Amino acid sequence: MKTSRAIALSLVLFVGIVLGLFPKPLFGGDQQRAKDLVQNACVQCHRFEGQPESRFNLKAPDLMWAGSKYQRPWLIRWLTGKEAPLYAKGYRWDLDQTPTKHPTVTQAEAEAIADYFDQHNKDPRVKVGAFDVSKITKFEASFGGMAYKAHACLGCHVIEENGKIIGGPQSASLVAAGQRYNQDWLFRFGQNPQDFTPHSGEFLADATEPQLRAVIGFLMVQGVKDFAYYEPWTSPEFGMASVDRGKVIYKEYCSQCHGATGKGDGPAASGLEPKPAIHTNIPFDKVPIDYLYNVINHGGAAMGKSPNMPYWGLTIGQQGVADVMAYLKVTFKGGPQVAQAAPGGGPSGVCPQPRKTVKAPEEFLAKTNPLPASAGTINAGKTLFLQTAQPVACAMCHGNEGNGQGFMGAALIPPPRNFTCGKTMKDLPDGQLFWIIKNGSPGTGMMSFAGLPDDQVWQLIHYIRSLAK
Ligand code: HEC
Ligand code: HEC
Ligand code: HEC
Ligand code: HEC
Repeated sequence: MKTSRAIALSLVLFVGIVLGLFPKPLFGGDQQRAKDLVQNACVQCHRFEGQPESRFNLKAPDLMWAGSKYQRPWLIRWLTGKEAPLYAKGYRWDLDQTPTKHPTVTQAEAEAIADYFDQHNKDPRVKVGAFDVSKITKFEASFGGMAYKAHACLGCHVIEENGKIIGGPQSASLVAAGQRYNQDWLFRFGQNPQDFTPHSGEFLADATEPQLRAVIGFLMVQGVKDFAYYEPWTSPEFGMASVDRGKVIYKEYCSQCHGATGKGDGPAASGLEPKPAIHTNIPFDKVPIDYLYNVINHGGAAMGKSPNMPYWGLTIGQQGVADVMAYLKVTFKGGPQVAQAAPGGGPSGVCPQPRKTVKAPEEFLAKTNPLPASAGTINAGKTLFLQTAQPVACAMCHGNEGNGQGFMGAALIPPPRNFTCGKTMKDLPDGQLFWIIKNGSPGTGMMSFAGLPDDQVWQLIHYIRSLAK
């Protein structure tokens, strides 16, 4: 209670100082004015020097590193009262759980304070250039989003997802974090939060540096409209890709599973379910480049596919990924996509189609499609099927006609489902299809589309059903 009264008191004092002691703008004296404000008013609540301290011994967040922490436009909006409170339950929630209204200054004062921070409150621990925002890939940001949830960040920091604020409002809001933080400060903070906010309820995640970078990448795109993601396949490494070097990499790293000539018959293959893809059957120049890059660089699991397809980025580097992709493209053009004698699954495209797919759990089998089978729904499903489903469109494997003969499908044992086959499809309940799309079919090339919202999965199911003859 004491501190809360102290904050209220200092607020009065603060307003008094702003209105009373400096009634007129001092032309040319902006620097002096900022200094006076900081040293007389802001210090009523904030500290500008000293060692990091527990939140439970402070009145307001420490500003020793204010010159390194914020993006200038955000800081100015904050100081002029144009930003929502950061601590929805109050900074000192142990004393009072209502958000505080921050004292405000004029635009000119705010700008002068931002300059003052720049000159006086740089944090020497923050390495300028440690984190490069222009290199954040779409994959990295979405992986970072998953890591954000997997490492419990959502438990204490809210974010915005699909237009809704989600998460526990205990600590600073991370909504629109990409407009607030300086990326280098955020990265340094992430390396060890206790260097900034010890004994405050903060959390040190067990994350590798690439994971930390992904989480920071995710935060730096929050609230940034039309963020320009980096596309690694436009990098210089791809400009100088070499098929010859790629051929060597294929022998050294890929042939152990995919076979020396890409037939999917390397020494490890006999023990693997699903089987390594048969590269000779894939026309690689048709595979979307983002998907191909991601599945090789980040591995099968990252794309909802078998975790036995390793992530190669660390082992062979960006140049290696570029080289092996160049090799795949000139070497494998795909074959006639019919009658792959596939043990375990039968040839692709036949009807009725042999099927060993795992049965969905009972609670899923009981589900029926909640959406009407209207033209609008079916069309929405069609667009997802042919083009937009992430990480890759269904048609790549199931074919444009849905007959299971897409160009990547020919590489898979067992082959993709033939949706045109009424005889096989009529026995499959909606809930079965729903479950397989969400979770994938374990031990087969059917990946999990866990990131698709339920509605979109139901749209897809209406479309798939419309294909059965
Ligand atoms: C009456 C106490 C008080 C005064 C005076 C005050 N602040 Fe604050 N300030 C707070 C509190 C409390 C917060 C936490 C904001 C929240 O709860 O949303 C805060 C937050 C901030 C933040 C964001 C901190 C973060 O989490 O990164 C900045 C920047 C800031 N204040 C700058 C200033 C400046 C500059 C002044 C002087 C012009 C000032 N404050 C005066 C109480 C105060
Ligand atoms: C158990 C609760 C908890 C969890 C889990 C947690 N944090 Fe925090 N976090 C805090 C607290 C408490 C602070 C200190 C805030 C303060 O005192 O101003 C903090 C501070 C931060 C800050 C600095 C906020 C600011 O503006 O000063 C960032 C950024 C942050 N956390 C990110 C994360 C990320 C990313 C994760 C997941 C890896 C995470 N946090 C997990 C409680 C948590
Ligand atoms: C340890 C075994 C293993 C090694 C080594 C391996 N892969 Fe794979 N790869 C797999 C498996 C298993 C699959 C099938 C994944 C699935 O269908 O879920 C696969 C699938 C693929 C696919 C097709 C992805 C798809 O969506 O169908 C490509 C492309 C690929 N691998 C490229 C490579 C390249 C390039 C290398 C060498 C740099 C390599 N793989 C090394 C096991 C391996
Ligand atoms: C990388 C190739 C690939 C992609 C991409 C793919 N599938 Fe599949 N799909 C398969 C394979 C292989 C099977 C056969 C699995 C089996 O035999 O259990 C399959 C089977 C299925 C089944 C049959 C389930 C059952 O119980 O029989 C459904 C439904 C399905 N896929 C829907 C989709 C949808 C919808 C998409 C796009 C969002 C999609 N698939 C994308 C390869 C793929």
